[in-house]
Amino acid sequence: MAWLRLLATILALLATAGVAHSFEFHEDTVDAIQLGFRNGSLTSAALVRFYLDQIRRLKPLLHAVIEVNPDALRQAKRADAERRRGTATGPLHGVPVLLKDNIATRDALNTTAGSLALLGSVVKRDAGVAARLRRAGAVVLGKASLSEWANFRNVRNGWSARGGQTRNPYVLSSDPCGSSSGSGVAAAANMAAVTLGTETDGSILCPSSFNSVVGIKPTLGLTSRAGVVPITTRQDSVGPMCRTVSDAVHVLDAIVGYDKLDAAATRAASKYIPYGGYLQFLKKDGLRGKRIGVPNVLFQQGLGEKQMRVYEQQLGRMRLLSYFKSP
Ligand SMILES: *[C@@H]1O[C@H](CO)[C@@H](O)[C@H](O)[C@H]1NC(C)=O
Ligand SMILES: *[C@@H]1O[C@H](CO)[C@@H](O)[C@H](O)[C@H]1NC(C)=O
Repeated sequence: MAWLRLLATILALLATAGVAHSFEFHEDTVDAIQLGFRNGSLTSAALVRFYLDQIRRLKPLLHAVIEVNPDALRQAKRADAERRRGTATGPLHGVPVLLKDNIATRDALNTTAGSLALLGSVVKRDAGVAARLRRAGAVVLGKASLSEWANFRNVRNGWSARGGQTRNPYVLSSDPCGSSSGSGVAAAANMAAVTLGTETDGSILCPSSFNSVVGIKPTLGLTSRAGVVPITTRQDSVGPMCRTVSDAVHVLDAIVGYDKLDAAATRAASKYIPYGGYLQFLKKDGLRGKRIGVPNVLFQQGLGEKQMRVYEQQLGRMRLLSYFKSP
């Protein structure tokens, strides 16, 4: 009967892809979304409706989102109204974002790190990074699932009592990694424009890798940990998980900076924040002239024939892009 289940899964995924195709913007980048807002082909409300629908339809399959914000559509409509009045501000204005469930927002949402023990914990104040997202104009879509307590409780990757088992959208039976599993899966399966994850030791990088999205683990203190369920202040960091490098950089720009509620770390790290932000480093020919070190022995461990081919292809592409002159 295994093949029957597999067939059903494939059909479900095909149906999903079919529906998603009728939305031109389903996989748009932040830049494309902003262009759509400006040229009138897209509204924030339409985006929120699309993502909420996507979350609802994929929930039984992927369990990537624990709770959606009952206020999301109103926030989106307000953003649209601001844009019509010409008072839209912020680089993420009207852009819907999902936050890992260990990051508090002042919306009517639980912040539980996936645990039933924290159910009913509705925080009155935004986490430092949530406040910055809001200042950049973002719409809070909801809370992404995770490995419970960000894996401080030793659980299977992507499992939490509240969220259930998050699944890898590319291969449902395969590991989504953790602990920011829901953020990675939601970004990969287009349930939000961008997402936030947190990392203590691998919790952004691993699920980004396993779900084929771009994650950035910021240097400690670049992003405030105030309002984030902690593991250790010596290692915790909050960072973007997005579909493209450009999106991740947009989000990083929005969330870094000093916070008096995480004063020591954010003050110490503020000297690393480049004047003018990170977008200036986003260059199409950014690899040109770079020498790339490749620890092949490490990277090739456990790769199958197919993965090996993809790996070599991408390495070749990076090599090509690093030449001074276009070959
Ligand atoms: C408007 O923006 C959308 C979304 O980025 C884009 O696909 C479309 O080509 C744009 N149309 C015009 C006329 O610029
Ligand atoms: C918190 O979670 C509970 C249980 O899922 C839900 O009933 C409630 O609406 C959630 N939100 C708030 C603000 O309590």
